[in-house]
Amino acid sequence: MIPWIHLDTAAVPGGGGELKLMRRGTEFAIMAGATPLMNSRMSSSEIVLAEVACERLRGRRNARVLIGGYGMGFTLRAALAGLGGDAQVIVAELVPAVLTWARGPMAELTGGGLSDRRVTVHEADVGSVIESGRGSFDAILLDVDNGPDGLSRAENDRLYDFRGLKAARQALRPGGMLAVWSAAPSKAFVNRLEQAGFAVEEVKARANKGRGVRHIIWVATRPADTGNPKRSGFAPKP
Ligand SMILES: C[S@@+](CC[C@H](N)C(=O)[O-])C[C@H]1O[C@@H](n2cnc3c(N)ncnc32)[C@H](O)[C@@H]1O
Repeated sequence: MIPWIHLDTAAVPGGGGELKLMRRGTEFAIMAGATPLMNSRMSSSEIVLAEVACERLRGRRNARVLIGGYGMGFTLRAALAGLGGDAQVIVAELVPAVLTWARGPMAELTGGGLSDRRVTVHEADVGSVIESGRGSFDAILLDVDNGPDGLSRAENDRLYDFRGLKAARQALRPGGMLAVWSAAPSKAFVNRLEQAGFAVEEVKARANKGRGVRHIIWVATRPADTGNPKRSGFAPKP
């Protein structure tokens, strides 16, 4: 059995404890305390998070997509594969060391996603990028934690509370979507999304290539403005 090797430790800004980068052979894990936050062998639902959004964005020109956070970049790479050459992808990652790890020990795994010309990286709380992005995104893909119930950082709760969801709705273009990854279902969160003005769809995705536990992805759509269809950014149907 190959042992885990501890490669590095980084503090989470804002008093959220610390993250550890671990390696076992070719497998990597980012730990939040004793809990795995991300594992390189369990990436299927993180990929589905991007795929469900890209399917729904098909045909939209100049799509602007916000991804928070980076983790190991599976969501980012799937988004880049599913979006057109005219798309812009903004990555918000709270812990700068996560990006250093991606460009360093995990460089082979990250496959150049961060250097794609469509990508802009912010070393920042995705909440602040959402707050400053009124009506500017076609999709916001949120995978910063274990889901609405949190894991690594209590401050992340405000991304999922009513105020945070209203801010996300305002940051979206009409017809845009907030897609949220979660380890577990939450009826209370679905209710909150609906109260914040979203139409909600729940997608289940296995953790590991059709196997393993089922994770949840909520696709919460901001209704399109009916008065001015051009503002939605969709190309007109022929
Ligand atoms: C579960 S990982 C994301 C996994 C990612 N979807 C992937 O494909 O590898 C969570 C990431 O979110 C980051 N994070 C946590 N809170 C954040 C916040 N408020 N804003 C931005 N990034 C955050 C963590 O540092 C970590 O890199």
